[in-house]
Amino acid sequence: MKAISLTNVYYSFDSIFVLENINLEIEEGCYLGIIGPNGAGKTTLLRLILGIIKPHRGQVLIYGQNPEDYIKSEPIGYLPQRISQTIYEFPVTVEELVKSGYEKIKKENLDWALDVFKISHLRKKILRELSGGERQKAFLARAIASQPRILLLDEPTTGIDPYSMEELLKMLEILNRDFGITILVVTHDIGTFAHEARCILCLNRRVVCLGEPQKILKDEYMAMLYPESTVFPHKNA
Ligand SMILES: Nc1ncnc2c1ncn2[C@@H]1O[C@H](COP(=O)(O)OP(=O)(O)O)[C@@H](O)[C@H]1O
Ligand SMILES: [Mg+2]
Repeated sequence: MKAISLTNVYYSFDSIFVLENINLEIEEGCYLGIIGPNGAGKTTLLRLILGIIKPHRGQVLIYGQNPEDYIKSEPIGYLPQRISQTIYEFPVTVEELVKSGYEKIKKENLDWALDVFKISHLRKKILRELSGGERQKAFLARAIASQPRILLLDEPTTGIDPYSMEELLKMLEILNRDFGITILVVTHDIGTFAHEARCILCLNRRVVCLGEPQKILKDEYMAMLYPESTVFPHKNA
């Protein structure tokens, strides 16, 4: 079943196109890594899928519905870029953070979200008392507390230590494999996600390529994606 589809999507800021002619079909249960240089339109793509912004041309559909209609009845989980590095002086507890943004949330869903990210023991701690990795997990728990079918993560591994990153990857794997959640993750950790994601989208205002990591992470595609670069990040894979 198609979870997300974009057809001939264009989006511009100040009459400059940041996304052009995007055509994408994302199957339910997919684990997609999205890579591309800064300014490639990765965050903009996620915001279009969420219905926060609307395409200037073309169509975005979530399970066959416009995003704004879809989210009236079904949530989409979202971890915005750099959120846990920006919001941490907030005097709220982990539990309050996870509940925030929801009108009401069942206790079992709250407990499940804290449990998935193994932060149940931190529920009464305030954000300031947490490490960067713990804080990121609290924001991730918030993103899944509504039990979404689709989870969008914008650079979730930026600014966390290697151990937390390892843990986080395991948790995403569980959410995708055991709970069937469709995951889209924007990342610069190409090498890492080449092992994790089943599919990689290379974006640079247009779709440069899309496919299995082994097929995509080749010099010719990376040269198209990072034309300025002579050392390609996938060499560390
Ligand atoms: N609110 C905005 N107003 C004007 N330009 C923007 C705005 N948000 C993003 N842009 C521009 O759109 C392009 C794509 O941005 P973005 O989607 O954030 O890229 P990425 O996430 O791949 O780094 C960039 O050139 C950025 O400067
Ligand atoms: Mg971005």
